[in-house]
Amino acid sequence: MAPQILNVIPKPQKIEFAEGEFVLSGKTAVSACKELSSAKKFLQEYLEHCTPQKISGDRKCEITLGLEKSLENLGEEGYVLDIQPGKMTIASSSPKGVFYGLQTFRQLLFSSEKGKIPCLKIEDSPRLGWRGMMLDEGRHFFGKEFVKKFIDMLALYKMNSFHWHLTEDQGWRIEIKKYPKLTSVGSKRAESPIEGNRNAGDDKPYEGFYTQDDIREIVKYAGDRFINVVPEIEMPGHAAAAIASYPELGNSDIMDYKPEVKTRWGVHYYTFSPTEKTFKFLEDVIEEVVALFPGRYFHIGGDEAPKDQWKNSPTAQRFILDNGLKDEHELQSYFIKRIETILKKHNRVLIGWDEIQEGGLSPTAAMMVWRDWKWASMALKNGNCIVMAPNSHTYFDHYQEDPKEHKEPEAIGGLLPIDKVYLFNPVIEGITPEEEKRILGAQGQLWSEYLFNTDKVEFMAFPRMFALAEVVWTNPENKNYGDFMTRLKTTLALLDHMKVKYRNPF
Ligand code: ACM
Repeated sequence: MAPQILNVIPKPQKIEFAEGEFVLSGKTAVSACKELSSAKKFLQEYLEHCTPQKISGDRKCEITLGLEKSLENLGEEGYVLDIQPGKMTIASSSPKGVFYGLQTFRQLLFSSEKGKIPCLKIEDSPRLGWRGMMLDEGRHFFGKEFVKKFIDMLALYKMNSFHWHLTEDQGWRIEIKKYPKLTSVGSKRAESPIEGNRNAGDDKPYEGFYTQDDIREIVKYAGDRFINVVPEIEMPGHAAAAIASYPELGNSDIMDYKPEVKTRWGVHYYTFSPTEKTFKFLEDVIEEVVALFPGRYFHIGGDEAPKDQWKNSPTAQRFILDNGLKDEHELQSYFIKRIETILKKHNRVLIGWDEIQEGGLSPTAAMMVWRDWKWASMALKNGNCIVMAPNSHTYFDHYQEDPKEHKEPEAIGGLLPIDKVYLFNPVIEGITPEEEKRILGAQGQLWSEYLFNTDKVEFMAFPRMFALAEVVWTNPENKNYGDFMTRLKTTLALLDHMKVKYRNPF
């Protein structure tokens, strides 16, 4: 048979075409074992949402979802999709794999003509285990309905991790019962930079936060779609909103100490003060946050914490002396290790941006590489697990085409065209097989300084996220950029159908 293009992203690892076709009809019978009742519900929902013209005729057909122990070799996220005339089977050793098989089916159905899908057999499993997207809601707040829509998109493209950046200098977005001022004060700023002039304020108060009930609802929504939500609570820097809420948590013994929820973007000097009061506060916050997020990883930020205030604070200097630390960098390391001890009591793994290496990193922590790749090699040598999130290939707040042409609305800067994302290889070269196992996966970043609304989030996320989805799911030998761009055309039509905005690269 002539080679065919299968309109699925990320590209499945193994596709064998066969003769004939499966025709979806109004008389489709769905069967599934009890453990797959949730998958069956999803399938029924997908069938209801497919436009009526996808259903042709009323020939009987059958879709079976099954769990098969013999498929354990594909891993729990792997699946087999077997399409024959009148009969389709999705099987996996676990409900996760069945869910991913369903996502492949959804895309095939959408790209089909009148519900006719060619007979074939797909055997599929992911290249990497951490397939993520990060959304910054500190700079802008997008709300529950959007976050659910975003999670739906992650699921459709087989991403399994949603990193939720919930606290920033410009806003604290998660309710903490023990510290109500974090939201009554910290979730509000007096104004924001105006679009087109970063140094001028718009004179419009801005606010927003998630209640603990909202968070539980979103975490459950994501979990039903096999997406783990990783919360991020920033420390010791990017903490101005928390410090504005409780000024005693900052370095209050320095000159000109005036904490406020920040109204401009950029790196700010306000850091938590190293005191027992601060550690108690963070311990309390962590206790409430872990109760809401059942996943193993807890992100503590750790990036861009200027040392200026610690250098000028007699309290911080005394703390350095009392604890036998050499300097402020060792204080940063002490800070991270203290927090790791708290997280370990809750059976959580600390993960942070690559500055957590400063002054030495505990080998049991995990690290997210965003700057130079040399930090990745260093962490692997130190025994850490890492997630690749380099600004060179995964910062979706950068321009998508040459900014000199002024074709796009304002972005933070940089240039990250879709082909560069597609060619990204998160498995760095020159490492041992054991080190390679500790590269958990990769993640795209949606920093939101210039993502003024949800349309802009979608414009920056899509279609670059699809290129990343293929990077993390599909083995390099099965990837091809030209083929991807062909498949992308169908995916963009699917986005239109789902009322998702995107940048059209064609
Ligand atoms: C970062 O971009 N500051 C992690």
